Amino acid sequence: MKVLLIGDGARENSLAFSIAKSGRYQLYAFSSYVNPGIKENVDKTNGKYFVGDILSKDEVKRVISQVSPDFGVIGPEDPLFNGAADAFREEGIPVVGPSSKASTIEKSKVWMRNLMWKYNIPGRLRYRAFNNLADAAKFVEEYGGSIAIKPSEQVGGKGVKVVADIQAYLSQEKRRAASRSVDEIGRLVKDEVKIIIEEKVDGPEYTLHVLTDGRSFLPLPLAQDYKHAYQDGIGPETGGMGSISGPGYTLPFIDEDEYKATFEIVKQTAEAIKKETGDEYVGFISGQMMLTELWGPTVIEFYSRLGDPEASAIVPRITSDFGEILELAATGKLNKAKLEVDPRPSIVRAIAPLGYPLNRDLAKGKEISLDLPKMKEIGCQAFFGAISLYGGKLITTGSRALELVAIDDTYEGAVKKLDLCTSLVSSNTKLIYRTDIGRTIEEQVEKAEIVRYSYKDRIKRGVLGASMDWSPNGGLW
Ligand SMILES: Nc1ncnc2c1ncn2[C@@H]1O[C@H](COP(=O)(O)OP(=O)(O)O)[C@@H](O)[C@H]1O
Ligand SMILES: [Mg+2]
Repeated sequence: MKVLLIGDGARENSLAFSIAKSGRYQLYAFSSYVNPGIKENVDKTNGKYFVGDILSKDEVKRVISQVSPDFGVIGPEDPLFNGAADAFREEGIPVVGPSSKASTIEKSKVWMRNLMWKYNIPGRLRYRAFNNLADAAKFVEEYGGSIAIKPSEQVGGKGVKVVADIQAYLSQEKRRAASRSVDEIGRLVKDEVKIIIEEKVDGPEYTLHVLTDGRSFLPLPLAQDYKHAYQDGIGPETGGMGSISGPGYTLPFIDEDEYKATFEIVKQTAEAIKKETGDEYVGFISGQMMLTELWGPTVIEFYSRLGDPEASAIVPRITSDFGEILELAATGKLNKAKLEVDPRPSIVRAIAPLGYPLNRDLAKGKEISLDLPKMKEIGCQAFFGAISLYGGKLITTGSRALELVAIDDTYEGAVKKLDLCTSLVSSNTKLIYRTDIGRTIEEQVEKAEIVRYSYKDRIKRGVLGASMDWSPNGGLW
C-alpha cells in the first residue's frame, strides 16, 4: 500500500519512521525541502520524495495524482488550514487530517473559545474578543486582574502572545506597555477579530493527543513540551525545545482521573466541531492543557495535529504498528486499532543552531554532523528537523535542526543518555539546547499537588470554573 506523508519536520520524520517500520507500506513524502530523516524512510520502502509548496492545495493535488496513494497523513497545521486534507478527500482518498473548516479549532483561538462556551465544554476560560485594537488596549489599561493577550488567530506559524500580570500593584507605565503590545499583536492578524484577552491561569502544562476517525477516539500517552529557548524556562518562546512523555499513559504530575477528564474534554470538542461545521473530525485533535486551580484540567489551546516536539517523545514509545493505526484512522476503522506503549518514560532534546529563534538568518546555512551508529549504541534516536542535504552535507535551514530522543527506566537515565548523545553532535556554529528537560519532575509534582488540592476543594463547594472577577454581574465580563 502507498502512503503519502505531507510535511517536513522532526514530527514528520517520526511518522515516516513508524510508517516504514510497519513493513506494510511504501512511503511517499511531499515536503518543502529534502529532510534526510524522511528521505531515509522513503528510500527504505522504495517510495518517492517530492519537493514543493506544501501550503498550496493545488500542488498537494498534483502530487496526489502522481502517487495515487491508498491514504494520506498530514503532519503540520499550515497545510491543514490551507485545505491539504480536503485535497485528498476531493480525490476520494482517505487521510489522517481534519478538513480546513474543522482545523479552525487550532487556527482561531476566538472560534475555539466560542465553541467551548456554546457547547459547555469543561475547562473553558473566560475571554473577550476585540475587533478594534483601541478597545482592546483600553480594556487592558483599565482591567485590574491578570490576563493573557493573544492574537485571535495563528499568525506567521508561531503564535504571538503576551501573558501579562496587570495586577493592581503594577504601575500605570506597565499597563500602558501591555496595551501597546495589543497593537503589535493585532497588526499581524488578518481576521476581523484581532485580539482575544483571556483570564490568566497557572499550573503545570501538558498535552493530550487523541486520534479519531470521527467515531472512535484513541488517546495517546500524555506529553509535555518545553517552549522557552533556554535553560530553566527563560528566553524567548520557541516551537519547543524538547518534551517528555510517560511513564505509562500519564505524567508523574497528572493523575488517572485528570487524564480521563482531559480525554473527555478533547472528545467533546471533536464532537462539537462536527456539529458546528458538519465535517466529521478525522485526524489528531490535541488539547494543550494546564492543570489549574479554577477547573482542574483547563484548555489553553487545541492543535489539529500532533505537536512537535511532543510527537518525537510519544511515537518511539509506541510498540504496536502505528502505521497501521494511522491507516485505520484514515479509513474509518479505528475501533480495530491496538495501541501498545512502552511503559518507560522518554525525553526529547531539540538542538538548534545559534540564532534560533530570533535571528533565523544567523541560524541558517550551518553544517551539522552526528555519529548516528554510536547514538544508536547508547540508545538514542535522532529525528531530523530544519536541516537539509546539500552535496552530502547536513545544512541547517534556520530552525530546530534535530530532536534527540531517549527512552529509559527513569527520567534520570534518559537524561544521561541524551547528555552522551548530544556530545556526538558537532557543528561549525554554537548549538543551543536545554539539559533541564526531564529534570524538573519533582517541582512539577509539588506544584500540581497544590493546584489539585484547590480545584478539588472547588468541586466540593460546587464552584468549579466559577470566577468572581469575570462573572457577568460581579466583574467586567
Ligand atoms: N489564559 C492563559 N493563562 C496563563 N497562561 C497562558 C494562557 N494562555 C496561554 N498561556 C501561556 O502562553 C503559552 C502560549 O499560549 P498559546 O495559547 O498556547 O499560544 P501559541 O502556542 O499559539 O503561542 C501557553 O503555553 C501558556 O504557557
Ligand atoms: Mg501553544
